[in-house]
Amino acid sequence: MNESTKIKETKNLPLEGREALALIVAASTNNVIGKDNHLVWNLPNDLKFFKNTTWGFPVIMGRKTFEEVNKPLPGRINIVITRNPGWKAEGTITAANLDDAIQKARDTNAKQIFIIGGGEIFKQSMDIADTIYITRVHAILEGDAFFPEIDEGKWELVSNEDFQVDDKHAYAYSFQTWKKK
Ligand SMILES: NC(=O)c1ccc[n+]([C@@H]2O[C@H](COP(=O)([O-])OP(=O)(O)OC[C@H]3O[C@@H](n4cnc5c(N)ncnc54)[C@H](OP(=O)(O)O)[C@@H]3O)[C@@H](O)[C@H]2O)c1
Repeated sequence: MNESTKIKETKNLPLEGREALALIVAASTNNVIGKDNHLVWNLPNDLKFFKNTTWGFPVIMGRKTFEEVNKPLPGRINIVITRNPGWKAEGTITAANLDDAIQKARDTNAKQIFIIGGGEIFKQSMDIADTIYITRVHAILEGDAFFPEIDEGKWELVSNEDFQVDDKHAYAYSFQTWKKK
């Protein structure tokens, strides 16, 4: 099977129960996820949640998000999407687009695939994901990368856990899980 046939077959997602496709993100009340290619908060509990949730699974990200992290996330298969066919980074798999990335994640036989950002990639994957793990940061912040508005006609909030400001967390935040209706 050549590459273009493989890519064609991954259209018409969602994934028919074969494996789950989740977005995982931290976003402010006004959907900011980053500024100048950086996160705009330091929330250690969120980083812990991200690590525990994604550990062992393939993670798909845009090239700019990878450049921010600057090294492959340990314990996960890192798939980086770029239009630059010559782009390479040690410890990552390069993908030509979202479908190609999902196919490469599927090829690992993982039961769960995570899309971890950033804004461009979230925008393209919202319609095909079945789950959103969002850490809602309760603040109005400035930024230049955004998470798409969650359409409550299409998505149902299935769990919510609230946390207050403390000495390590400058903002209140909530861990929320949304499932596609
Ligand atoms: N808060 C969070 O949870 C979270 C998570 C992740 C990232 N972030 C933030 O998000 C920001 C980065 O997001 P971003 O939207 O600027 O960039 P991004 O989505 O990380 O990456 C964009 C890049 O992905 C590649 N790409 C996008 N669509 C493509 C397609 N259809 N086919 C092939 N390649 C494609 C292109 O790479 P090339 O230019 O190489 O072609 C594009 O420049 C940063 O501020 C980061 O801190 C926040």
